[in-house]
Amino acid sequence: MAANKSLLILPGDGIGPEVMVQVRRVIDWFDRRRAVTFEVEEDLVGGAAYDAHGVPLTDETLATAMASDAVLFGAVGGPQYDDAPRAMRPEVGLLRLRKELDLFANLRPAIAFDALLDASTLKEEVIRGLDLLIVRESTGGVYFGEPRGIETLPDGHRRGFDTQTYTDEEIRRVAAAAFDLARQRRGHLTSVEKANVMESGVLWREVVTELHKESYSDVTLEHMYADNCAMQLVRQPTRFDVIVTDNLFGDILSDCAAMLTGSLGMLPSATLGAADATGRRRALYEPVHGSAPDIAGKDMANPIACLLSFAMLLRYSFGLEDDAALVEGAVRHVLKTGVRTADIMGPGAARVSTTVMGDAILRELDKQAA
Ligand code: IPM
Ligand code: MG
Repeated sequence: MAANKSLLILPGDGIGPEVMVQVRRVIDWFDRRRAVTFEVEEDLVGGAAYDAHGVPLTDETLATAMASDAVLFGAVGGPQYDDAPRAMRPEVGLLRLRKELDLFANLRPAIAFDALLDASTLKEEVIRGLDLLIVRESTGGVYFGEPRGIETLPDGHRRGFDTQTYTDEEIRRVAAAAFDLARQRRGHLTSVEKANVMESGVLWREVVTELHKESYSDVTLEHMYADNCAMQLVRQPTRFDVIVTDNLFGDILSDCAAMLTGSLGMLPSATLGAADATGRRRALYEPVHGSAPDIAGKDMANPIACLLSFAMLLRYSFGLEDDAALVEGAVRHVLKTGVRTADIMGPGAARVSTTVMGDAILRELDKQAA
């Protein structure tokens, strides 16, 4: 069958390559067993690209990413790059992809799997039924704002500074994406900023309120300060449906939300750009966990976050809801049977390697598709 979707796979560093091997197996399974087929290119990013080419993302790789239907990303970074020049750090590869592809809406779901409730540091009754989605703005704010730098003052002291900046248009487009998602879910959106101390927060609140009035009055909107949101996330996380927030608050709150579920190794993410006239949108999918250098190369990492990222790719880039649900269903079923990687071990469960987790999920896909 002719390949009909082009994917660029960037495994990156640390556990990125080994979890991506399991995704490749699932992609091969789709090529054999389902209507959709993929034309896959694989390339380097982060420290791996820096070692090979002296930069964390080459222009060629960026061009391939631009031309692909979707990008699937592993993880970047490692202690061996701590002394690399700042502009050459592995993270820059990821930030440049987000920026150059104009991927402004970073979707980070946090879902508590019933089979894993005991893996959370929170009480089961606090997280049972948790299903929230953080929409993090990902091309603006303090991550990219100018001016920034470290300068030496006339008195000899040094001063480091960054700029938090948002235009109304940047706020509007990410808020619209979040309202659309809330509408498809439980119809509730929490907009998070620090309008009590930040000008960009004041504008954020104004623009979201306006947009709500104009186009989304069927969605329930609430505003919340970021510090309060951090508190509510651990106090009563099930009160949230969709949260929309800026780049830095989103970075922090999404780590907090991820940990509620008991394992970062379970959580996927998608970063989406605007749809063009044909409805096609640029998109990058990545597990929320980082490169985890301490366990890299040991066949210990949990491949589920990366596999669920592939499920998001099927859903958001290609509209293949049934195929996405197939992957998610296989994961849920395997967890129910008590198969666990080290990060989600619980009493009475069977601890398995990355590869054996992949085996179990493939077997389950075979069964479900039979
Ligand atoms: C994330 C990461 C990145 C970020 C780093 C690797 C630059 O923490 O995706 O949350 O801060 O955005
Ligand atoms: Mg982060």
